[in-house]
Amino acid sequence: MENLIVKLSEDKRLEPEEYRRLLVCDDKNTIDYLHNTARETACRVFGKRIYVRGLIEFTNICRNDCLYCGIRKSNRKIERYSLSREEILACCRLGYGLGFRTFVLQGGELPDMSDILIENICSDIHSEFPDCAITLSLGERRDESYRRFFKAGATRYLLRHETASPEHYARLHPETMSLEHRMHCLDVLKETGYQTGTGIMVGSPYQTYDNIVEDIMFIGRFRPEMIGIGPFIPHKDTPFGRYGSGPMDNLPADILDITLRLISIFRLMLPDALIPATTALATISPEGRMLGILAGANVVMPNLSPPSVRKRYSLYDNKAATGAEAAEGMNELSASLATIGYRPVVDKGDWRASDS
Ligand code: 5AD
Repeated sequence: MENLIVKLSEDKRLEPEEYRRLLVCDDKNTIDYLHNTARETACRVFGKRIYVRGLIEFTNICRNDCLYCGIRKSNRKIERYSLSREEILACCRLGYGLGFRTFVLQGGELPDMSDILIENICSDIHSEFPDCAITLSLGERRDESYRRFFKAGATRYLLRHETASPEHYARLHPETMSLEHRMHCLDVLKETGYQTGTGIMVGSPYQTYDNIVEDIMFIGRFRPEMIGIGPFIPHKDTPFGRYGSGPMDNLPADILDITLRLISIFRLMLPDALIPATTALATISPEGRMLGILAGANVVMPNLSPPSVRKRYSLYDNKAATGAEAAEGMNELSASLATIGYRPVVDKGDWRASDS
């Protein structure tokens, strides 16, 4: 098995069946070797530096109805909010003071008429903080909208594909959505010039190892600049609210373990990718963030949203938003990174040196 890891590290690719063997492998030494090789690769490219991005969850209003997501349109139990331009800028000022040089604006899928609003926010941030990068994570939008936001100063976009299998995609999303359209959006983002992020949830309902292998193959073809991998966590007011409380026949695995393996696999496939240790990972285990970094992740995204709205941006139950997951917790984050020999860095952290 160690030969497979050496092969992945050297060739940056494996055959589907070989990826599958890594996913189902039950030998602890092999998996340790996988994580160590990935961690060394990350160290070679980035040193012991962890990029810090300030996450601003600016609205939980969403026109979509993804079956797994707590802010889906059909969830009548949450109180909806939307931060004003001034409130968003206030978050950026706070973050800038804390040293952040990348702001990630994440929100539900707003109606198309909100384009102008988002454009204005991007240009306001861009002119007040010209030395900062703006990342958007606003779901599927029209091609034209993506182009407008890019012109207004956003240079990065996160849009997880969620699963590369059309059948699996259909089981997680309402009929109005399709994998084909998601892929179209990803292509447009890339063509527009965004550094593009994609990824999946691990352990989402009906997911199988074969699905995950398809996801790996897709990511190998698409070559995103950023890869977001987090465990699926049920949200009680969604159709999948009780999923995972019984045995998961489709994926008989520890989702923390598989998430960490995937972080390592992606690090070896795409050594200079930006791979966060996600909030969902920190939510399922107190050591999640650190384990993610030790498996090859190199980004953390503390929450910069005003504390008063954080509870309402509930994608899943018990989402971590305090301590080292929160912008105010930067000292705690630095201290915990120091225990494993890493330090946070606040520069824009572009993998492309030419990006301005
Ligand atoms: N558990 C884990 N991750 C979730 N997301 C949405 N709902 C959940 C959930 N219940 C993730 C999706 C989405 C990202 C913003 O949050 O992958 O792309």
